[in-house]
Amino acid sequence: MNNSETLREKFKLVFGYQPSYYYFVPYRICTLGAHIDHQKGIINGFTPDIGINMVFSPNAGKKVNIYSEDYAEKASFDISNYKIEKGRWISYSQAALSSLKDYGYEITRGFDAIISGSFPVGGLSSSAAVTIQYINAFCTAANYHISNDKLITVAHGAERNHIGLNCGVLDQACIILSKKDSLLYYDTLTGEIESIPFPSQSKKFRIGIFFSGVEHSLISSDYNKRTAELREGFDILRRHTCIKDDSEPVLRRIPADVFEKYGGELPDNVYRRCLHYYTEMQRVKEGTKLFREGKTEEYGRLITESGQSSVENYEAGSPELTALWEILKSTRGVLGARFCGAGFKGNCFALTDPDFEIEIEEKVKEAYLRAFPAFKDKYKSVFIGTTDGTGANNSL
Ligand code: GLA
Repeated sequence: MNNSETLREKFKLVFGYQPSYYYFVPYRICTLGAHIDHQKGIINGFTPDIGINMVFSPNAGKKVNIYSEDYAEKASFDISNYKIEKGRWISYSQAALSSLKDYGYEITRGFDAIISGSFPVGGLSSSAAVTIQYINAFCTAANYHISNDKLITVAHGAERNHIGLNCGVLDQACIILSKKDSLLYYDTLTGEIESIPFPSQSKKFRIGIFFSGVEHSLISSDYNKRTAELREGFDILRRHTCIKDDSEPVLRRIPADVFEKYGGELPDNVYRRCLHYYTEMQRVKEGTKLFREGKTEEYGRLITESGQSSVENYEAGSPELTALWEILKSTRGVLGARFCGAGFKGNCFALTDPDFEIEIEEKVKEAYLRAFPAFKDKYKSVFIGTTDGTGANNSL
């Protein structure tokens, strides 16, 4: 993992002077509430102590110059004349800038930066984490203080309006609002937040992250196709409600009993996507209560059920990631497992009994690589701690 010292040295080499700032923005793990944030649902998650590191300095001109350690490449653009280069890693800094402009921030200075992720991308929400890094860098250069709520909105706007992913605010809310050793409960409709401390010593668990080796972009996945299917469900179910024409087309507006009564009118695929939404809402409600009561084993079971619904009803997952999840859920000592995020690539995570950590690492690796030997050099796993979310003050 790169620490700030290594990055500082690299910065000196690339840009020829010392950087002024070092920021760390964590990734996020979504324990429950998968694929319901874009429907204004409720979510659970936390921030692991791994994420994106960046050193940077505002520069005197209008250029953004970034060297990515992960892509071993330098890219630049002019803040007053650029296009969003979709599909390239640099697009997230361009999207961050465009979103800041959408929300009225005047950005007149660029910056030089070295950026580096601490785990292979995929499902840990590295795109939201880098976007937040860039927003913080632009704001630091312009001397803007941006509130947590605004940071969530601008970062979400960057991905949704400029990258083109029809996502909700799960990633941004977790990354910004989580507290160390606590589970975040967040209502993406009302903004209600609760930080639930991890249970005391006797009920301790460990969190493992398992990288499948699959890296590709969510934009080329079925992510937006699924949100379109949910929209179709909304349009059909809405006819049985008195929801106004101009109200936001999200399932949160449609009560569960309307789905229960009229779900039969939906095409099969749409029915199953909606079923995922309503059952996942229920799991977050129940799970939050169980976690508050310190019932981590029961909470773990809900995580696995969420994984099951994501695979069967939401049809997320790739063959590799689904196989990894299947292995995890049948491994001794795993209390619960699912994809870290959307599930189309990248990483699974597991809540584990600390006594089985080594056994889990060995068994999962052995079983996964037996099924997918081609990922021998890419597969990896790590047991992590948690950290505070980044908070907007990170930039000051
Ligand atoms: C991605 C999106 C989030 C969320 C998850 C799935 O990470 O960016 O908004 O929908 O997938 O839960």
